[in-house]
Amino acid sequence: MAILAAHNLTKQFPGVLANDRVNFDLEPGEVHVLLGENGAGKTTLMNMLYGLISPTSGEIQVNDQAVHFTSPNDAIKQGIGMVHQHFMLVPVFTVTENIVLGVEQTKKRSSWFRGLGVLDRTSPEAKIRELAEKFSLKVDPRALVGDLPVGIQQKVEIIKALYRGAQVLIMDEPTAVLTPQEATELFEVIHALTAQGMAAILITHKLKEVMAIADRISVMHQGRMVGTVTPDATDESQLAEMMVGRKVILQVEKALAQPGAALLTIENLTVIDDRQQQVVSGVSLTVQAGEILGIAGVQGNGQTELVETITGLRTARTGTVRMLGEDLTNAPPRKIIEAGVGHIPEDREKHGLVKNYFLSDNMALCTYYQEPFAQGVVLQQPAIQAQADRLIPAFDVRPANPTATAGTLSGGNKQKVIIAREMSRGAKLLIAAQPTRGVDVGSIEFIHQHIVTAREAGLGVLLISAELDEILALSDRVAVMFQGSIIATMPIEEATREKLGLLMAGVK
Ligand SMILES: Nc1ncnc2c1ncn2[C@@H]1O[C@H](COP(=O)(O)OP(=O)(O)OP(=O)(O)O)[C@@H](O)[C@H]1O
Ligand SMILES: [Mg+2]
Repeated sequence: MAILAAHNLTKQFPGVLANDRVNFDLEPGEVHVLLGENGAGKTTLMNMLYGLISPTSGEIQVNDQAVHFTSPNDAIKQGIGMVHQHFMLVPVFTVTENIVLGVEQTKKRSSWFRGLGVLDRTSPEAKIRELAEKFSLKVDPRALVGDLPVGIQQKVEIIKALYRGAQVLIMDEPTAVLTPQEATELFEVIHALTAQGMAAILITHKLKEVMAIADRISVMHQGRMVGTVTPDATDESQLAEMMVGRKVILQVEKALAQPGAALLTIENLTVIDDRQQQVVSGVSLTVQAGEILGIAGVQGNGQTELVETITGLRTARTGTVRMLGEDLTNAPPRKIIEAGVGHIPEDREKHGLVKNYFLSDNMALCTYYQEPFAQGVVLQQPAIQAQADRLIPAFDVRPANPTATAGTLSGGNKQKVIIAREMSRGAKLLIAAQPTRGVDVGSIEFIHQHIVTAREAGLGVLLISAELDEILALSDRVAVMFQGSIIATMPIEEATREKLGLLMAGVK
């Protein structure tokens, strides 16, 4: 018996058939992984199963009974919970307040208060502690959500779903923003849930994870369900081929680097974060033309703030940032862009795109005021359009529609728009922060090859990635960042997974 099932589920968006007669089922106690290239329709399918959007046709069943969801509330009542890719928590509220939000129980304290409901804090908190204990979710109910790292915020979202009685947990790319340690913990939690008969649907692009956690794997391709397999009957390269519809090279080929002049020179950089903590401590590094310097490190060791400082989004407390000798320390972002720095930001939703702008305008976001996109103060729409017509096929952005708004694109396609823009405007140095986060294996291959080709043509690249595989595949030199400092730098020939892993944990 299926706890949740989709029968011939179809979703037609204007101009895009996002789900085409999709069949899917989930059994109690199983982890069912949903795979598929960017834009395949995974999130759309989950959003229908959670009542966020309604199907154009087809049927959803819970325990073999047809259901009609008009909102997530209907899905929640049927025991379906979802943890979104972008958490929906209120940062200034406590964990408990966030969890009870919308399901507050009130109790009348005294006759004097009669009629005035008073929020009951004691019993929800006890229930939260009990859930946290049962599923080894280490969360303090009284902590302020805004103070918690992403991994813990995600646990709050899970407890929130459990608190509402979820029997099914849908998670859309839950590990994309987690450190390897946090991902391991998440998998332990998922195992604890399924051991009690609950079931989980997981979307991920990381094939190694799929093999480790899945009981069954379903693969989507261009809106259709192409097959369901078990991990013991498949391997990573077969899954990649099912997703993308062709063979994927999981390893990039590249010639030895021919480093040229120093492009980026950072000396003794010190940065403090929003809470006045020193998060970058005396960092010095150089990126030369024609080389890729990879910064390995567990997320949260100052990489984010380092990149923000280089790109003009945060001020340095001490030290200097130079590009081809020009002092750019604390310069405004536009000056840094004009000095030849491209930036693929870590948070594409916040720093990468304007969601309600067309794709074409997003592709001109850094250059719209320059020729040929503007003459004087007049925007030249034909030039902006022509650029999009060139970049969309070159970077395989789907749908290939320049007047689609960026917000309607799937996660991976948003990333491709940013990469197209940052890699096509003649930058000499590329700061690439988590460049393939949320990107499918076929597009990872494409982006990696693009970066390597550009580096062979003289581009210098500072690569920041939480994926050790990506660091090892692309870098010519590797630096390890730990607690705000670069604790080691080595040529790629000397970098092994084990050595980097130890350094990332601070073991020298
Ligand atoms: N609100 C919307 N309006 C128009 N088109 C949409 C909307 N939401 C999604 N789409 C389109 O539907 C298709 C499927 O998108 P979906 O987000 O389900 O893909 P996905 O498999 O989750 O991809 P990714 O791995 O990149 O997250 C895409 O072509 C997308 O552009
Ligand atoms: Mg998605």
